[in-house]
Amino acid sequence: MADKPTFYITTPIYYPSGKLHIGNSYTTIASDAVARYKRSNGYDVFFLTGTDEHGLKIEDKAKANGLEPQAYVDKMAKGIKELWKTLEISNDKFIRTTDKEHVVAVQKIFERLIKQGDIYLGDYEGWYSEDDEEYFTETQLAEVYHDDNGKVIGGKAPSGHEVTLVKEESYFFKMSKYADWLLDFYHNNPNFIQPNTRMNEMINNFIKPGLEDLAVSRTTFNWGVPVESNPKHVVYVWIDALLNYITALGYTSDDEGLFNKFWPADVQMVGKEIVRFHSIYWPIVLHALGVQPPKELFAHGWLLMKDGKMSKSKGNVIYPETLVERYGLDAVRYYLLRAMPFGNDGSFTPEDFVDRLNYDLANDLGNLLNRTVAMINKYEGGQLPAFKPGVTAFDADLEKTATEVVANYRDLMDQMHFADALSEIWKLVSRTNKYIDETEPWKLAKDDSKAEELAAVMAHLAASLRVIATLISPVMTHAPKEIFTQLGMDPATISLIDLKLADLPAGKQVVASGTPIFPRIDVQEEVDFIQGQMTKSDKTKGRAAMAAKAAAQQAAAIEADDGKPEIDFSKFEKIELRVAQITAVDHVKGADKLLKFQLDVGDLGDRQILSGVAEVYPNPDELVNKKVMIVANLKPRKMRGEVSEGMLLSSGHKLVIVPDTLVNGSTVE
Ligand code: ME8
Ligand code: MG
Repeated sequence: MADKPTFYITTPIYYPSGKLHIGNSYTTIASDAVARYKRSNGYDVFFLTGTDEHGLKIEDKAKANGLEPQAYVDKMAKGIKELWKTLEISNDKFIRTTDKEHVVAVQKIFERLIKQGDIYLGDYEGWYSEDDEEYFTETQLAEVYHDDNGKVIGGKAPSGHEVTLVKEESYFFKMSKYADWLLDFYHNNPNFIQPNTRMNEMINNFIKPGLEDLAVSRTTFNWGVPVESNPKHVVYVWIDALLNYITALGYTSDDEGLFNKFWPADVQMVGKEIVRFHSIYWPIVLHALGVQPPKELFAHGWLLMKDGKMSKSKGNVIYPETLVERYGLDAVRYYLLRAMPFGNDGSFTPEDFVDRLNYDLANDLGNLLNRTVAMINKYEGGQLPAFKPGVTAFDADLEKTATEVVANYRDLMDQMHFADALSEIWKLVSRTNKYIDETEPWKLAKDDSKAEELAAVMAHLAASLRVIATLISPVMTHAPKEIFTQLGMDPATISLIDLKLADLPAGKQVVASGTPIFPRIDVQEEVDFIQGQMTKSDKTKGRAAMAAKAAAQQAAAIEADDGKPEIDFSKFEKIELRVAQITAVDHVKGADKLLKFQLDVGDLGDRQILSGVAEVYPNPDELVNKKVMIVANLKPRKMRGEVSEGMLLSSGHKLVIVPDTLVNGSTVE
């Protein structure tokens, strides 16, 4: 048997300083999806995650909990392992930086770096953020506090966390010596950091201004890996932590088999706030050790809540266990990967979560499965007919869509554009639903001479579901198996290798009656439930009162200048504005204010939109042929029994008319 290609993927090792929330879960689920995707493509995968258990922050947390640091991290690491079990994370190893093997390896590596002159002893004076476990020079601080004499007495890190002055003997790593090497390395590996715009940030903010030597040990607390030759020092927690990626593979141990097999890592997944450590210090330390840097560092954005980053003090934290228990694991894994656009921040809102569950999962996918299973039972005695291409007029197009979707999905997954990969799969879901409308199987069933067509339609539906289930299998761990099972196929055969629509195993018996895999849920009830879970975690009354006051102030400010609160670009970006041409206008019976517009929206086709502008246009026919702007992705709604598919932009009830030279359907930004 030929050796399988290998693939090594890592997550950051998380601080066990609190319960992990859906933010940390995002990284782990995304990495898990990659690991599963690669395995399903035939790779020999090693997937590593773990915990970063040393340092001042953990020592303080343990104290605050009345525990010895070791007892504290034991308890927390256990909880984190349980969480990954709940989320069905398929990691091959869970490393803890308190593991004996890791500690020994870190000590060996540190001694070696001292011996070869890359680490030297000196005195450090500068600012330290305990929350970030990160050093800063005064100029790097986001904010500084002065005393009456103008002396800097404190400040805030760019993360917003407080810094304190540190002044102690410290070992330093000669980062400066490797700055040119690093720039060369970036130059030769322009895709090392993904998205690659972050590479310029690193060059301009940290390397160009002069890369400083990094303090790599502390003497004012004990909770860390002691420096072997000078044990009053403990190794700086970030050096200790970064090394996990190679110590986990046995680097410097008696058995370096895994290291030789899997290093360099194919992808190291991190959040954007720790890119500096992973893209500057990490490759340099490896290079000093004569070890190759990882092939790729993937820095994703943050999952934000309505009022910014998740934090316990804001009372906007949501824990994955709560969501999984109520909505199932698939919904949570799907939502998280769907919510984060490539390279950008994503936001979690209860409304969005509930909508995705109801529309994408229950409606689009769930119904497709239900209808298919029901029809195969009704029309084919429950047996999957053999796949025959090109029987109906619509088969070729469905097959073409399937082929395109599979190819695009592969590209997107290879680049870790999860949200886009999922929306690609949903193109096939929609295309398949449309195929049912086009082929009208219920009509074919009434005509005995159409039996062959009907069988072909049923086979195409099952085949399409087989492809869809396989494509979602890296992301969802339950639905694909359920889809295979309901269609009578063996879930053990799910594989992305050579995935084709036509490869439907014929003659299988589908289940007699399929149960919905994603039940619809009540919007208001569930939004309230999730909201309730978020505020519940805010135990500090004082803070809640402060938040309420801030909200009231903001509301007053809005009242005063009649503006609306600021929104992120990512929110604005979701609004699809298009140019449309009015082809006909009518009054709406019984509604004096409403006009009914027929519009040509270019590639989006024809639309009907209702707008309350009738009073301004006594002769609405004069509007015909005029070009206007519409919000094209507003959910269709019914007004006075008429459907309105979008919104016309207007001001003071007058339509915003745009120049005739704009093309119908073109986007407005
Ligand atoms: O930084 N959105 O650990 P940490 C998206 N121990 N991702 C989020 C997130 C959010 N709101 N919140 C957290 C450390 N994350 C170090 C790492 S590695 C050698 C040492 C994820 O517990 C994201 O991946 O603060 C981020 O980088 C990581 O959790 C930070 O976890
Ligand atoms: Mg952090």
